[in-house]
Amino acid sequence: MSKVAIMTKFFPEEVARLCAAGHLVTVHEEGGDKAAVVKYASDAEALVIPLSLRIDVDTIARLAALKIIANLGVGVDNIDVAAATRRKILVTNTPDVLTEATADLAWALLLAVARRIVEADQDLRREGFLGWTFISKHLGVDVYGKTMGIIGFGRIGQAIARRAKGFGMTVLYHARTPKPEVEEELGARFTPLAELLSASDFVVLCVPLTSDTRHLIGERELSFMKRDAILVNIARGPVVDEEALARALKEGRILGAGLDVFEHEPQVHPDLLLLPNVVLTPHIGSATWTTRRRMAALAVDNVLAFFRGERPPTLVNPEAWLM
Ligand code: NAP
Ligand code: GLV
Repeated sequence: MSKVAIMTKFFPEEVARLCAAGHLVTVHEEGGDKAAVVKYASDAEALVIPLSLRIDVDTIARLAALKIIANLGVGVDNIDVAAATRRKILVTNTPDVLTEATADLAWALLLAVARRIVEADQDLRREGFLGWTFISKHLGVDVYGKTMGIIGFGRIGQAIARRAKGFGMTVLYHARTPKPEVEEELGARFTPLAELLSASDFVVLCVPLTSDTRHLIGERELSFMKRDAILVNIARGPVVDEEALARALKEGRILGAGLDVFEHEPQVHPDLLLLPNVVLTPHIGSATWTTRRRMAALAVDNVLAFFRGERPPTLVNPEAWLM
């Protein structure tokens, strides 16, 4: 019987699958910090964690029995994967199952900022429907037929591009490597970063957070963007220099931003909270019932596979498996 610690509120049917396979499962609904992991999971062989939980080298050192960490998210920047690998601890994530929901959220933010949906809703609730106005304070910008620049053209970036076809958009993308195999189908063109930033009406960030992508968008990159461009970030907060972004938005150097992620989560830069040209969501890219159920099932699939002696289906550090 192996011990599995789940450090978040979880779906009972997935807990039941682990129990049915003979594992001893504990669920720690308030297990969102390092102290809770060390307290409750010190003898666990498997950890199922929310992506908000940071598993650093020190935490790994304190979890002597640990053999697998199943992250509830595709991004694994919350885990010191190198430290886990050195200890032969497997790390798994939840790719694919959340791609479409996250692409939808990117589009929701884009449309909300472009068409000033949140401002209009708040005004209506506060002041009532004051009547149809021709030159109204809620005039936004067109989306149809515009140019979208997607930075990070993997699963989510490409899913966002697929939706852009329906909006008659020109799609530019940037990634580490060009993707000629999908360019025709998606009507997308590989473009150097500076050129993408200066040509796009909407810039959408879809890269993982790594040492190369931290502050990929800073003062200089923001200065390349059009004054009427909108930035959407569904990737990770630190991909953008939030201080520089807040300044650019305040000074009207770009038109607006839709942000699902923040540099210092759960803190949000105070200036962003005051700006009307920004729509903010609390990291809800994958937050639909169906997607969260699929993520939970995939995390459990990974743990069950490992305990059966099989390679987990979405293993992030195959080196640890081969060691
Ligand atoms: P993916 O399929 O691995 O795609 C990542 C893309 O980023 C790839 O095209 C990759 O380029 C590109 N990239 C990596 N490093 C780069 C760099 N230094 N410069 C330019 N491009 C770079 O990942 P995904 O499934 O689409 O997910 C992407 C990220 O979205 C996740 O890591 C996560 O942080 C974030 N996310 C957020 C939410 C949310 O709730 N807001 C939900 C899901 C995911 P190559 O193709 O050339 O390697
Ligand atoms: C969400 O942010 C994820 O990485 O899945």
